[in-house]
Amino acid sequence: MKNYIKIKNKITSFDKKIEVSGDKSISIRCVLLASQAIGKSKIYNLLESEDVTDALKSVEKFGIKYKKIKNYHEINGLGINGFDNSKNVKLNAGNSGTLARLILGLLVNFTKKVTLKGDKSLSRRDFSRVTEPLKLFGAQITSNKNKLPVSITGTKLLRPIKYYEKIGSAQCKSAVMLASLKSPGITKIKAKKSRNHTELLFKSLKIPIKILKTKTFDYFEVKGETNFNSFEYSVPGDISSSSFFIVLTLLSKNSKLIVKNVNINNTRTGIIKILNMMNAKIKFRNKKIYKGEKISDILIKSTSNLKGLKCPETLNSSAIDEFLVIFLVAAKAKGISTFKNLGELNKKESPRLNIGIKFLKMIGIKVIRRNNDLKIFGNPNIKLDKIYNIKNFKKDHRIFMMSCIAALTFGGEWNIYDKDSINSSFPNFLKITKRLGAKIY
Ligand code: S3P
Repeated sequence: MKNYIKIKNKITSFDKKIEVSGDKSISIRCVLLASQAIGKSKIYNLLESEDVTDALKSVEKFGIKYKKIKNYHEINGLGINGFDNSKNVKLNAGNSGTLARLILGLLVNFTKKVTLKGDKSLSRRDFSRVTEPLKLFGAQITSNKNKLPVSITGTKLLRPIKYYEKIGSAQCKSAVMLASLKSPGITKIKAKKSRNHTELLFKSLKIPIKILKTKTFDYFEVKGETNFNSFEYSVPGDISSSSFFIVLTLLSKNSKLIVKNVNINNTRTGIIKILNMMNAKIKFRNKKIYKGEKISDILIKSTSNLKGLKCPETLNSSAIDEFLVIFLVAAKAKGISTFKNLGELNKKESPRLNIGIKFLKMIGIKVIRRNNDLKIFGNPNIKLDKIYNIKNFKKDHRIFMMSCIAALTFGGEWNIYDKDSINSSFPNFLKITKRLGAKIY
């Protein structure tokens, strides 16, 4: 079967309401925490994508049963010591850094050997950022030069740790938080700001956690060895998936879009703040709070007077997965946009900083890079008329979707390969794009 799509026309004006699928970060955390709860948890609107299926299959390998019933997933947790400890286990986290790093946290008390592997993209990513702190709990961990496959053998003689998370990585912070559930005593964490879904879930599950927030760091104390009850959770829409349609609307002519029921947690809305600084005027409607998470409809209208910005570095973490589409907006904006310290982008599913720059140059945008800082020289009159083939991007789902948005708004004739990449985070992406009127072959 053909694994590429063809786009030959810009999208025409639209005025629509859509819903995107469930948030990936929250879905994976719900699966992992439900596996540790006591009893049957019910998760509504769980994202049905490969990353989340891999999470379900992973906990199943430890004897955790799950099934989909009507519109929810039921996961039968057996408590924090409930993983079937009778045999060695082989796990495959597929494309998911979040699953791979977080599940290692849950294995610090699993006394048989677990070997974790992943796909090609995950196998080039660093794991020392989680294996180093997890070793301090007492787990034995070996790796292939800090990459996958990683093997972990946990222990029943765990000790709590003091951990300083310096990168601003929610995956690192969360892996340690999950490990702290298993350890006696109090684990103390000082972490650079990053998405806070794990701590919000801990709070809503009444897991003993103390949180102190300052401007740049969050401090946590987790009291381990406390079992918690199963729960119900309704996963809100994913702002990272929404971001493709937000930018599609902004860059199209005379269009309007409402994305319903999206998670707008402050640690995730960097893209909205950045785009509004560029004159986008994106609004939130029907805001509510659900289990500590902010949820809202997002209202977007196309704008013709986008302007460049000096992106505050403090927003990097809350927009970390959205920079590729932010670059597209910078490409169309009037003036220069500057971004600082984007090195983490190269540590994602593909080297997104390198690929993003190559992409902008390919469509004729001037970019200056110094180390991990960028200057993008926008062109409000950008109009493409060449043939563009997008391949060899390590099958990164976000590169695929970003390319589709560029094709639908800048013109030209595009062949975009590795369509299946969207299955890891957003299998409905093309269906929704077509519903907005896009012609995709
Ligand atoms: C995620 C955290 C981010 C993000 C990833 C999902 C999470 O990674 O890029 O897509 O769910 O915790 P880092 O924590 O490594 O920055």
